[in-house]
Amino acid sequence: MAAALKIDEFNLLDDGECDARIAAAKQILGKRLCILGHHYQRNEVFKHADFTGDSLKLSQLASKTDADFIVFCGVHFMAEVADILTDGKRTVILPDLAAGCSMADMANLVKVNKCWAELSEILDPDQTVTPVTYINSAADLKAFCGRHGGIVCTSSNARAVLEWSFARREKVLFFPDQHLGRNTAKKMGIPLEQMIVWDFTKPLGGNTPEQIKAAKMILWRGFCSVHQMFQPAHIDAFRQRVPHGKVISHPENALAVCEASDYVGSTEYILRVVRASAPGEHWLVGTELNLVNRLADEMKDKGVTVEFMSPTVCMCSTMFRTDPQHLAWTLDNLVAGNTVNRIRVPEEVAKPARAALDLMLEVVD
Ligand code: 13P
Ligand code: SF4
Repeated sequence: MAAALKIDEFNLLDDGECDARIAAAKQILGKRLCILGHHYQRNEVFKHADFTGDSLKLSQLASKTDADFIVFCGVHFMAEVADILTDGKRTVILPDLAAGCSMADMANLVKVNKCWAELSEILDPDQTVTPVTYINSAADLKAFCGRHGGIVCTSSNARAVLEWSFARREKVLFFPDQHLGRNTAKKMGIPLEQMIVWDFTKPLGGNTPEQIKAAKMILWRGFCSVHQMFQPAHIDAFRQRVPHGKVISHPENALAVCEASDYVGSTEYILRVVRASAPGEHWLVGTELNLVNRLADEMKDKGVTVEFMSPTVCMCSTMFRTDPQHLAWTLDNLVAGNTVNRIRVPEEVAKPARAALDLMLEVVD
């Protein structure tokens, strides 16, 4: 095994040189390598992915691949999920370790344990509350759910997961994204009066014991910094300008944006719906810019117009961290027999996290 190649040398390469190296490494590694790419990846990286998808599709693909190496062009929690679902039997690599998710960081185990302890002063949460974590969360929060009879959800199965949860216990503690929780519960017919927000900086999350007892949904006060840029006013302006236009949004958007949209769903759902449109259709899309730009280019040839919802540029800065330089560095190291940036979840965390993820996959199938 040669000494690990240094990222500094790769940072000096231009994208064209990285492309050539990535293509050569893929050729050498062949079926031993599987590159997964989330829809928010920039084009220069996305084009190298063997498979692309939303969080659910990518976790299903990761759980099924026979490849020795899974290089995950996405963010940290996605690579953790791939490692958990492959029982550590595959080597999962995140090209840039700084590719996290700011929403995922809005909840952590200390704060969620504190919340659970505070709920225990008022009710018996292990009998009455199902903890549901959005897949955009650290592995130890998935493990928390696994230990407390809870489950994981993604943006494409949140409704099925909430139905499963309410069939077992009367309340749900949903973290870290308040919007996905609120949007999904509202669509299921749960009134807003039965939803409270848990502000972890305040005692009892800023709620009274009576409010907690009356609530069905306890929503963690987390959000996505990209999706919070989209506003109902953007939709109003679009409808004035393009009366025949249609609006599609990701469920991480605020309730007012989702309710003003014609369709709401995961990144994979957004692509499926827009790709099925007829020539002449015009879309306003409320999700990350790289996806929207790529979709707009693809649909232009079919006579379909696709517009980004916000007048200001907003990309997911952490998804953007993965660049061709890091991808080339990762792959060239694999070719040289070195593994860099392996994501490994310790088994004591992975086991209960896997239980919560497996439950989700059972609910979806
Ligand atoms: P999807 O599962 O819909 O791809 O969403 C992941 C995500 O992080 C959206 O911000
Ligand atoms: Fe996280 Fe938002 Fe980026 Fe998705 S778009 S990875 S939720 S910060």
